[in-house]
Amino acid sequence: FVPPSVGGGGGGTVAKDALGNDVKSTSWLATHPIGDRSLVQGLKADATYLIVNTEGSIEKYGLNAVCTHLGCVVPWNKAENKFMCPCHGSQYNAEGKKIRGPAPLSLALAHCDIVDDLVSFTPWTETDFRTGEKPWWS
Ligand code: FES
Repeated sequence: FVPPSVGGGGGGTVAKDALGNDVKSTSWLATHPIGDRSLVQGLKADATYLIVNTEGSIEKYGLNAVCTHLGCVVPWNKAENKFMCPCHGSQYNAEGKKIRGPAPLSLALAHCDIVDDLVSFTPWTETDFRTGEKPWWS
């Protein structure tokens, strides 16, 4: 799977860390190992997971952390290699695909690109590569 690039010009929403600072790719990767999934502020200020992929780069998609059941923020469980919602037990795999309800849907995707070292999100409007379906969030 190769997500389409945003193309020149940027125009995305720059990710912010917990202190409200812009997230820079190089410094993020210096402190977040392969497989890491940590929260930043993403599109519409939603809590969004940045993923460090197996190549040690920031993944081309971020995951909206809001549970599709009733909106709890879903923690990443590294030991279980999945996202597990503490509210009513929904589970999502490492790509945010729903694997256990009551959540009805997978976690929403956002494109994630590095523009001048800044981590930048843009809306994901294409087919959801995890389900082959149209994105329910756009
Ligand atoms: Fe996540 Fe209900 S809000 S399972």
